[in-house]
Amino acid sequence: MNNYPIGIFDSGIGGLTVANAISRAMPNEKLIYFGDTAHLPYGEKSKDLIREYSIGISQFLIEEMQCKAIVVACNTASAAAYEHLRDYYKGRFPIINVIDPIIESLAANKDLKRIGLIATNTTIESGVYQEKLARRIPSAEVKSMATPMLVPMIEEGYAHDDISHALIDNYLSNPLLQDIDALILGCTHYPMIRDEINEYYKGKVRLIDSTDILASKLMDILEKEEMTAIERTGENRFMISDNNPHFDKSASRFFKESINLEFRNIWM
Ligand code: DGL
Repeated sequence: MNNYPIGIFDSGIGGLTVANAISRAMPNEKLIYFGDTAHLPYGEKSKDLIREYSIGISQFLIEEMQCKAIVVACNTASAAAYEHLRDYYKGRFPIINVIDPIIESLAANKDLKRIGLIATNTTIESGVYQEKLARRIPSAEVKSMATPMLVPMIEEGYAHDDISHALIDNYLSNPLLQDIDALILGCTHYPMIRDEINEYYKGKVRLIDSTDILASKLMDILEKEEMTAIERTGENRFMISDNNPHFDKSASRFFKESINLEFRNIWM
């Protein structure tokens, strides 16, 4: 089983930022990425619906693609479906979400007084980050704000330009997000604009996203379970459930190298 692939999924191409971090940290591992572009965006959908999609994708990755572990590379799906998937696959397949590694990393720093959180509407409304932070860092005040326009902006390729500056400024200048010590980039699309957010705060706010932190958590889990790949057995595969040529260009930008997307509609 060690040489079986790792399954990674997101609502679309945002989770490729996480896939890239995993591929850099564990070059021996073969990755199967699934972007549910047929149902994009998850950030505006109900928890029940996202849970249903997440179950279908996990079944596909485990049963058809023979994945040995699943990474939920989407904050919205992590908030809506992680516990269900974890309980269902308990003792059989490790399921890793993008939220817990962020909470653990923040909890290691007891000096944080005000933590900001930006994410999709569904992630913010789920209250999952807020509850976990309150439990692990009770002394910190959490200021959360939905920033739904950032996903379409990033997908359309706006970055380091007037449009992205205006939108980022507009969101981050909200009184809610003032005087924070750290800001959680609670959506797997946001690492694409991490530099611009850092410029906004002039490097004074600690930014935390789920790329490298998640990769290192996944590595720990696979090592502990003695599941790391012994050798690389083939090329990574990248699949999307709705075929749109528009995604091809963006996907390579997110994964930071040229990749081919396969159309695989598991819903028909
Ligand atoms: N990338 C997803 C996340 O991390 C959000 C994109 C969407 O709304 O589908 O929450």
